[in-house]
Amino acid sequence: MKLELFESLKTGTLPEEYKQRTDEELIARAREIKEKLGKKLFIPGHHYQKDEVIQFSDATGDSLQLAQISAQNTEAEYVVFCGVHFMAETADILTEEHQTVVLPDMRAGCSMADMANMEQTEKAWEKLVAHYGDTIVPLTYVNSTAEIKAFVGKHGGATVTSSNAKKMLEWAFTQKKRILFLPDQHLGRNTAYDMGISLEDMVVWNPLNDSFEGDAHEGVKMILWKGHCSVHENFRLQHVKDLRENEPDRQILVHPECTHDVVRASDLDGSTKFIIETIEHAPPGSKWAIGTEMNLVNRLISSHPDKDIVSLNPEMCPCLTMNRIDLPHFVWSLEQIEKGEPLNQIKVDKVIADDARLAIERMFQFV
Ligand code: 13P
Ligand code: SF4
Repeated sequence: MKLELFESLKTGTLPEEYKQRTDEELIARAREIKEKLGKKLFIPGHHYQKDEVIQFSDATGDSLQLAQISAQNTEAEYVVFCGVHFMAETADILTEEHQTVVLPDMRAGCSMADMANMEQTEKAWEKLVAHYGDTIVPLTYVNSTAEIKAFVGKHGGATVTSSNAKKMLEWAFTQKKRILFLPDQHLGRNTAYDMGISLEDMVVWNPLNDSFEGDAHEGVKMILWKGHCSVHENFRLQHVKDLRENEPDRQILVHPECTHDVVRASDLDGSTKFIIETIEHAPPGSKWAIGTEMNLVNRLISSHPDKDIVSLNPEMCPCLTMNRIDLPHFVWSLEQIEKGEPLNQIKVDKVIADDARLAIERMFQFV
């Protein structure tokens, strides 16, 4: 084996030769391997993935749909997950022992998921329980590590996605008086506000200095972990104001990972699935400014030429970590599977997976 190739396999970095192949060669190889492996191979793809990869996916979806699809597929030997690390972990938790989940590039992480680690969460829980007693149920956005999901599962809580956050908050309030919502403060705040909870009854928990930000009074219903999506935070109130002034007939549709002021000032907000369906059902000629990830916005623009669609932020870029999964990494992972030497396997520890599954299955009861 060539030294360079050996090093790549050891470190999980893409061998040089894949960078030298043309797109045509890579596409031909992907088609060939897909055809050869048939149902042995399953490729789920998140809506934020690049077109060059999504063209090969067997199923596309938002986080919730991909979690459901992963749980349903018991046939494939290999699941090549085109998305980010936490999604591949969820797929591993929900698939069977004989199935191998592969993430084509291990650098495809999520900065939001990284904003809550176990040490911070355990410390926070101890302090929150000391402050509020046994009155808190934890909920975590699926955009979190398997360990955080396991923590939540062990403490009677559940996962949520942007598609079912409201239902999950309603359920959580039947369990306890207040919710610790990790790791995205914006999804937590926007969802609770829509349910009629006032901003005064929400407090932020800052994991960087282990303390509250705001008034942690007895009436608090939502404890919001101070995490965010670095992509969706790039939509600002000024973008909404500029559009309102320059193009008052353009409707503004945003994801609830955007900040509260942006969501309040927009016309509509909802999950990735909601955004896609809203555009699908919109009348020809309608004008939209969308506040979500750019690969998806570009796909909506090209698949709806009869509608006038722009990004709410004219300078917006795609999610960098979603973009790590590109054609060379994708073909590399397929070729390794073809050789029977799959790389970049995602394997969640069994004890963590069992607790995390509790949290995910509690969510599945409500979808
Ligand atoms: P959804 O797929 O739940 O809308 O989440 C968006 C997202 O940021 C995924 O990383
Ligand atoms: Fe994470 Fe935001 Fe990228 Fe989604 S869009 S993977 S939440 S950084």
